[in-house]
Amino acid sequence: MLKKVKPTGEFATLTVGGQQIQLPIVIGSEGERGIDVAELRKKTGCVTLDPSFMNTASCCSEVTFIDGERGILRYRGYPIEELVRKVSFVDTAYLLVHGALPSPGEKRKFSQLLTANSLLHEDMRHFFDHFPRGAHPMHILGTMINALSTFYPNVDLLSMLDDIDLSTARLISTVRTMAAFAYKKSIGDPVVYPRHDLSYCANFLYMMFDSPIKPYVIRPEAVDILNLLLILHADHEQNCSTTAVRTLGSAQVNLYATISAGISALSGPLHGGANQAVIDMLKHIQREGSVKKCIAKAKDKDDPFRLMGFGHRVYKTFDPRAKIIKEECHKFLKAMHVDDSLLEVAMELEDITLRDEYFIERKLYPNVDFYSGIIYRALGIPENMFTVIFALGRLPGWIAHWKEMIGAHTKITRPRQIYVGETLKHL
Ligand code: ACO
Repeated sequence: MLKKVKPTGEFATLTVGGQQIQLPIVIGSEGERGIDVAELRKKTGCVTLDPSFMNTASCCSEVTFIDGERGILRYRGYPIEELVRKVSFVDTAYLLVHGALPSPGEKRKFSQLLTANSLLHEDMRHFFDHFPRGAHPMHILGTMINALSTFYPNVDLLSMLDDIDLSTARLISTVRTMAAFAYKKSIGDPVVYPRHDLSYCANFLYMMFDSPIKPYVIRPEAVDILNLLLILHADHEQNCSTTAVRTLGSAQVNLYATISAGISALSGPLHGGANQAVIDMLKHIQREGSVKKCIAKAKDKDDPFRLMGFGHRVYKTFDPRAKIIKEECHKFLKAMHVDDSLLEVAMELEDITLRDEYFIERKLYPNVDFYSGIIYRALGIPENMFTVIFALGRLPGWIAHWKEMIGAHTKITRPRQIYVGETLKHL
């Protein structure tokens, strides 16, 4: 049962057309205050106008806490800095969905479910043959997840909620297999089936890179860094894709179709697609040989270009995920003996922007996408798969929000508008 938001006992007074109304001020468990406008339209006939939800809390949630001013991110109360050091991505997925870390027994059962659900229905494998060559893996993934609804008939809300472990395991496990298959198909290689004896992250790397002519050696450093990246991407409260998931879920769309919408939202370059765009940008800077030119372009009001991997709607300081990723990026490249000249370009770009008045004034810092691509490159992951890895990480967060929303019997999401079109006309 979702906890109720607490009234503070204070009220905001609003005067509309001479009439004064009192709007209750509520407070969350970390001190966030909100004005509850639920009665506004009924009492005044007015709605609130807040395009892009710059000031709107769309729901109450217990899943993830962010403090954008202090650079804090916690899942179910646990700081991400502790989670990446102490638990696995699978534990984190369980934590997000259930609200608590698994006991040894729960962990064993969940791992068994992941293994049991790691294969794709064989008929689905043939779908991959019919996408055009060069199709973006994010679009393939979204399509394939939607198609899951047709292969698993018991997808009504109650059965999915009833066995949330099965629904979660099936999604987390099959989506990983689909992602690796999409990659293999894109390079014309035979697909590699999952192994029952490998951990979640090791299995993904194995399916991505093993080949009949060159067996893949799974390095523990590679498994650890992938584990860390997936944990850091696992949830981020009411971001664009999670809002898409909650919106579809509120219409009681089945979970697979709902997650497919999340994938589509995440693919946008202003959201998860930024990790691929960052590498394109760094390569472009390298070709042009000038970081300063790129920064000038980003500051030019007449140019729509933005520095990819910079800025965030919520963080007005360093994104805590970016801090961890930057540190781990250096360590990982060293351990793998990789010398990536794009890392130097990225560091120079960051260094200049952090001292530039334009970025300081607007509180624009590197976000989660800025350094992650350099790690993916060192892992051998091609650029068009970067956002797919983000999606693998974000799955448990989407499922957790879907479950929370369905459990709270939320009404269908249906915002209002202020109509500014033609008034009544006749033909
Ligand atoms: N480069 C240059 N200027 C920027 C950037 C940027 N990356 N981001 C914001 N600004 C500027 C805007 O031009 C605006 O300037 P103004 O006040 O003079 O008009 C000001 O900073 C505020 O920007 P908004 O667009 O109002 O900020 P918003 O919260 O709507 O956007 C967003 C956030 C989409 C992340 C934006 O910063 C951006 O486009 N960043 C680049 C894309 C990116 O990295 N996306 C990944 C985000 S993390 C994630 O989704 C996983």
